[in-house]
Amino acid sequence: MAIDIRTMDEDDIEQLERRLAPEGRGRRTPRTDSRIRPSRLASGIEAYAEPTELEAGFEPTYHPSRYERAWLLSSLRPFYQDAVISDILSLAAGGKEASVYCCAAHPSTGRTLVAAKVYRPRQFRSLRNDKLYREGREILTEGGRTVNAGDQRIMRALGKKTAFGVQVAHTSWLMHEYAALRALRAAGADVPEPLAAHDNALVMDYLGEPEMPAPTLHGTRLDLEEAPRLFQRVLKNVEIMLSLGMVHGDLSAYNVLYWEGEITLIDFPQVVSSTRNRAARRLLSRDVTRICQYFGRYGVQADAEEIIEDLWYRHAEDALTPEELLGDQYTGPQAP
Ligand SMILES: Nc1ncnc2c1ncn2[C@@H]1O[C@H](COP(=O)(O)OP(=O)(O)O)[C@@H](O)[C@H]1O
Ligand SMILES: [Mg+2]
Repeated sequence: MAIDIRTMDEDDIEQLERRLAPEGRGRRTPRTDSRIRPSRLASGIEAYAEPTELEAGFEPTYHPSRYERAWLLSSLRPFYQDAVISDILSLAAGGKEASVYCCAAHPSTGRTLVAAKVYRPRQFRSLRNDKLYREGREILTEGGRTVNAGDQRIMRALGKKTAFGVQVAHTSWLMHEYAALRALRAAGADVPEPLAAHDNALVMDYLGEPEMPAPTLHGTRLDLEEAPRLFQRVLKNVEIMLSLGMVHGDLSAYNVLYWEGEITLIDFPQVVSSTRNRAARRLLSRDVTRICQYFGRYGVQADAEEIIEDLWYRHAEDALTPEELLGDQYTGPQAP
């Protein structure tokens, strides 16, 4: 049985999520959860772990754990069938909301390696700060189409958070990330080039070597001499985003990769519109402040407030009235 989140109820999703969560993370209840009936275990989620005939031709080099397997293979099979990837080689990183795998690219892509970002069954972010980030943006479907507010079935499902609604919201996050990557890449920003997207995963350029994914800025040590140039480069990317009406919304040393002396921004599902989201300026401030703090440790002197003022003035000033900005009802997202 292949996993189709649309046919799963909340308990199933909950249980799958727990199984996929890295040890000690996201496990909100102990392993011996008495609420999980053995019969459900046998008939429900356990069944998802069984290999299927469909998987027969797709036997990746990477050996996922039993419970990771079904989710991973059903998420990446479409890319295999569409000749985007030909193998899954290794797990590059298990992030907060997603796991990223290093894959062998299909030769038709003109690449050797690609990264597949597989969203976890349920994004914690969507529960925590969903509303803040969703303001001023559309719900996107798998094909990148906008969901019409008049689509009663989808709107109802979203409101009630049914399994189908969860999948719609989930796919929408992913498509926003894909759309942001495409737009940014086209504008010359330092982001991985996205190649394809499906319900639960997207494929993009891989940074690093097979067994050595590029570290994040947080996970590396810069030379003092290169820090000022890299700082300017990150700011340049923030500016490109803003010129396209986007604020990253979760920018920090954890979401910037460092490879061969250059930086690459990643992790865009939560991008907000600088013109339609009332928290945009606050999120921009947080993004820029974190970057200034990081580079400050390498002796880069910068006045975050001044940079934010200047960026906002040049790219977003007319977007919202001061009342709209100052009358902001949001208290802002919690720092991760
Ligand atoms: N294109 C890529 N190439 C190599 N590693 C990547 C790539 N994209 C993401 N990663 C790795 O995967 C991790 C998680 O990806 P990210 O997009 O930040 O998702 P999350 O929302 O889970 O933080 C990153 O911190 C990074 O280590
Ligand atoms: Mg991240």
